[in-house]
Amino acid sequence: MAVTARPELDVAAVRTDFPFLEELVDGLPFAYLDSAASAQKPRQVIDGLAHFYAHSYANVHRGVYALAERATDGYEGAREKVRAFLKAPSAREVIFTRGTTEGINLVAYAWGLDNLGPGDVVVSTDLEHHSNFVPWQYVAQRTGALFTTIPVDDAGELLLDDLDRIAALGTVKAVAIGYISNSLGTVNPVERLTAWAREQGAISFVDAAQAAPHRAIDVQALGCDFLALSAHKLCGPTSVGALWGRAALLERMAPFNLGGHMIRKVTRERTTWGELPAKFEAGTSPIAEAYGFGLAIDYLNAIGLDAIEEHEQRLLRYALERLPEVPGITLYGPPPERRSGVVAFNLGEIHPHDVAQVLGFEGVCIRAGHHCTQPLMSRFDLIATNRASFYLYTTEQEIDRLVDGLHLVQRKLG
Ligand SMILES: Cc1ncc(COP(=O)(O)O)c(C=O)c1O
Repeated sequence: MAVTARPELDVAAVRTDFPFLEELVDGLPFAYLDSAASAQKPRQVIDGLAHFYAHSYANVHRGVYALAERATDGYEGAREKVRAFLKAPSAREVIFTRGTTEGINLVAYAWGLDNLGPGDVVVSTDLEHHSNFVPWQYVAQRTGALFTTIPVDDAGELLLDDLDRIAALGTVKAVAIGYISNSLGTVNPVERLTAWAREQGAISFVDAAQAAPHRAIDVQALGCDFLALSAHKLCGPTSVGALWGRAALLERMAPFNLGGHMIRKVTRERTTWGELPAKFEAGTSPIAEAYGFGLAIDYLNAIGLDAIEEHEQRLLRYALERLPEVPGITLYGPPPERRSGVVAFNLGEIHPHDVAQVLGFEGVCIRAGHHCTQPLMSRFDLIATNRASFYLYTTEQEIDRLVDGLHLVQRKLG
């Protein structure tokens, strides 16, 4: 019987791709455990971008000369790479944005202002990053709709039993769910929630900022109507991301940003909009950024999202095994089988910022704060936590350095 082995990630080889690891502090490279905030960039992206700026750069779409054609090919080629990465039916449905936040605002405004009103309900969750919470809350308030959230249990997992209670609050029109929580790593049952949204006659929006870097995404299998991601979290450049939306919905929506490139015809009396995706891409495009986004997708595809996910699962289980050795530590979050490579914790009464600062002196980079999830923090009666997050270049030795560093923090400040 044929057995298909899952590809294994060669972390030593991966690490040679990342120039930031060449810098040594006291003989050691940085232990960068803050990839949930932003991922480091491999040579393939950095050098590819430099080459693009040097040899293929011009404004896109309008030029008729060779450089403009190269730039347009690079930009539109990246759109096709994003389409394939998300398994979307058409590249027309892929809109380049400044990132996940802009994709969410685009839909909350452009869809919400015309489709929400009194009696309607907009549903998000208590796990959300403020990006997938505040725009929906704001647009609900602007339109007279009710904004509500699915609560979480003590492990930080959604309480789906509450869906019936929520459905009784009014007409559920929009369901905005994070795929993976940036604060706790919780992997949400997205297919189940998009199916529920469909049953309610609502649109579903998936914030994939923390999922797209770590697992293969298939928008059709997820059953969502919209999905947003950011390039910088998956080894790509900052200030670029993508929104995928069903063409039928995008076509019915009003534009979000207005200006150049998104028009069909402008007269003193009236302006008509261009076709998808131009209708939602006003102004000069993020030309090189989108190209670099495509390079990052190539890079991740070459390694394999399945291999990356498996590597991070191994690291997560290792971290959850080792961290309880630290006296006074409290760990938050669900069991590893429903969690990605994120570990949130507090160290007794020691302020998370002090913990992160002492670790920083040891070259161990973690984050402290509310992680843009204040509603979640208040659910757990916390002001802040520490968060270590892993990616394809993370090693067990770096987790050992985290554990050693936490012992040091306890000795110094405990
Ligand atoms: C779950 C989640 N959603 C949205 C965002 C916002 O992403 P961006 O700042 O790239 O727009 C983040 C960023 O940390 C995130 O973790």
